[in-house]
Amino acid sequence: MEAFEGETISSALFAAGIRVFGHHAKDGAAQGIFCANGQCSQCLVLADGIPVKSCMELVRAGLKVEPVEGLPELPRIDARASRLGPARPIETLRIPVLIIGGGPAGLSAAIELGRRGIRTLLIDDKHRLGGKLVLQTHRFFGSIEAVYAGTRGIDIATRLESEVRSFAAVSVRLQTTALAVYSDKKVGVLVEGRRYALVEPEVLLVTAGAREKNLAFPGNTLPGVYGAGAFQTLVNRDLVKPTGRLFIVGGGNVGLIAGYHALQAGISVVGLVEVLPECGGYKVHRDKLARLGVPIYTSHTVVSANGTDAVGSVTIARVDEKFRPVPGSERSFDCDTLLIAVGLDPVNEFTEKAREFGLPVFAAGDAEEIAEASAAIFSGKIRGLEVARALGHDVGEISPDWYRTADILKSKPGAVVPEQTPADETGVFPVIHCNQEIPCDPCTAVCPNNLIEMDETDIRLLPSFAREKGGKGCTGCEKCVAICPGLAITLVDYRKDAEFPTVAVPFEFLKETLKPGDRVVVEDTEGQPLGEVEVGAVKAIKANDRTVIVKVRAPRAYAKRIAGIRIQPAATSEPLGEYVRRTTDDTIICRCERVTAGEIRRLIREGVRDISEIKAVTRTSMGSCGAKTCTPLIHRLFREEGVPDAEVVDQPKRPLFIEVPMGVFAGLNGKDKDHDNE
Ligand code: FES
Repeated sequence: MEAFEGETISSALFAAGIRVFGHHAKDGAAQGIFCANGQCSQCLVLADGIPVKSCMELVRAGLKVEPVEGLPELPRIDARASRLGPARPIETLRIPVLIIGGGPAGLSAAIELGRRGIRTLLIDDKHRLGGKLVLQTHRFFGSIEAVYAGTRGIDIATRLESEVRSFAAVSVRLQTTALAVYSDKKVGVLVEGRRYALVEPEVLLVTAGAREKNLAFPGNTLPGVYGAGAFQTLVNRDLVKPTGRLFIVGGGNVGLIAGYHALQAGISVVGLVEVLPECGGYKVHRDKLARLGVPIYTSHTVVSANGTDAVGSVTIARVDEKFRPVPGSERSFDCDTLLIAVGLDPVNEFTEKAREFGLPVFAAGDAEEIAEASAAIFSGKIRGLEVARALGHDVGEISPDWYRTADILKSKPGAVVPEQTPADETGVFPVIHCNQEIPCDPCTAVCPNNLIEMDETDIRLLPSFAREKGGKGCTGCEKCVAICPGLAITLVDYRKDAEFPTVAVPFEFLKETLKPGDRVVVEDTEGQPLGEVEVGAVKAIKANDRTVIVKVRAPRAYAKRIAGIRIQPAATSEPLGEYVRRTTDDTIICRCERVTAGEIRRLIREGVRDISEIKAVTRTSMGSCGAKTCTPLIHRLFREEGVPDAEVVDQPKRPLFIEVPMGVFAGLNGKDKDHDNE
């Protein structure tokens, strides 16, 4: 098989059309990708005979990849004849600051520390820096000044990385994983996947991000059911088109954006379900998806993913006020992939252990509190200064405005207000279709005549347009149309034809998707069709940074209400004739050990309250994800059975984050590029 250099095994397999990576030892269930982030172990394969997480291991020429059928066997090693050589001492690196995680928060903190010449080691388990930024091809919200709003996440990653690398005081180690924080205040680290070392920092900064929450429903472990982050990794980082027809569970920003990215990659999005009456993500994201033709089912949940060795369809149902599926409301849809985007949990185990053992520790970004990546950039910046101060450096007073900005960037979207459509129908002017308070200001900075205004003290407030300022009015430059991350500004031009004005609409698809003369359905902000119009021009200029401007001529009656262009035909999302439904006792709670809800429920009903006891009987939580995936679901089962949280005895947290061959701790297998002579 062919693969690209630098590609992970899992992406190479997906690109080759392989979705099933093996079968589970317990019940023969098909296994495939789930998190694509090194957090679970669903994607295990044998690489040259050794079981590895295929999402973390890079391909190399001649690599032999085999599926894991049942339990993998480890290769036999004759210790005496071993090429491993003698154990070498484990080195301990003493350093003022160790940062775990090279995403937006970690990079921003490293910049502040680097600026002050503070020796810092930044480690990240991936093979490139940027964290989730490298998956984010959309423009960022927030403030231009504070967090590069209006710039695409992938480009922010490049900027932050090059700045970090310009500081001699900051060293970066990729493919290097923090394993545990120990009671002697040292952090065990697996360097480049092979060599074990200890780091003894004066201060630890945890910016390790978050892991995706899981959801329990029948069929939830079928290959084809995976996290939204995994999907973005495949599509946006590794440029693999993993599916043809996609369904999404979760209407937060992650699910909404994943749907948008799918459409951009030419994937049909069959629908999105959100259990609450409204999507929790930004309305501009929701509107973008609706306008592109994706049905959004609020107050609905997923009932099951259906198929034997892979997803073939999904069944959804309406929920009542207690979020229980309403019998008779089920509908099934044909799809091959189901994305789970039901929220994130902070990766906080390092912070908790450091606190327990008295190692000075700070956390920033999602590892501290789940919020937008723009908030992570800013909190990383603040935490960088706080770490410097904790080390005795004079950083002056950290402005209270910074803390306020951090709070604003973290804030949840505000209430939706009725859209204000200007009464005017002369000349040229922008129509702002943004009607929910969110932290975002790029439109105010790009207008050459400063005609788009916002209260400078709070970038959550809605922008407004002034027809004239200092004798200058709108010139129709389209800069505001191109930069709005929410694609929520159009420009209506009555100058040539007042009856059929030209409307400039932002469009983030390839220029070739539309051409002059095409007939398109245009829609209002919420995705309601207004009519069919002809495309006049398609403009893709470099200054617009991959946002295409499509110009349509539309009747005066609705020109100002046009907010977008539909690209996905409505027929994509027709339900199947019959709905498929499966029983729920076989719902998998522990993916690693294939333990069902039925097995755990039985013990809860027998009176078991200690999760360790459930573990001893069923093997739940004993898998290689270290119980990170199933623990929240076990707690939910207790709640469903009416057991209060206070009665449940949690299991001890397992220290190790990933599987490490035992010999590595003893200093065996220590060859790496720094120690070639060993
Ligand atoms: S899901 Fe990994 S141990 Fe349970």
